[in-house]
Amino acid sequence: MSDPVRVATVEDVKPGEALRISRDSAGTHDDVVLVRTTEGTFYALDNTCSHALASLAEGWVEDDCIECPLHAAAFSYETGEALSLPATEPVGTHAVEVRGDEVWLTPGSVKGEL
Ligand code: FES
Repeated sequence: MSDPVRVATVEDVKPGEALRISRDSAGTHDDVVLVRTTEGTFYALDNTCSHALASLAEGWVEDDCIECPLHAAAFSYETGEALSLPATEPVGTHAVEVRGDEVWLTPGSVKGEL
């Protein structure tokens, strides 16, 4: 685990939308998709789909998962687990904390690659 990094403000991501954060900004091995659910909870996952390299930031934000824009595989916000085919491998997840109007991310991965 690395130190937390400020990656966005709360206003940068509208409820029900996602924002792509570069790996250089986040300090991660892949770009990150920062999600804000319609209830206002933030999550962060590796941006590259484990199936065929699509950008999850271009996908669909659901209540508990994000769907890939290319073949619609769904990934759990909590675990990064692939919830539907054609993806079978998880994507990495990162802890997110809201501090006032700022969003902070702690790089970490379910694949343990950091
Ligand atoms: S590239 Fe994401 S499901 Fe195929």
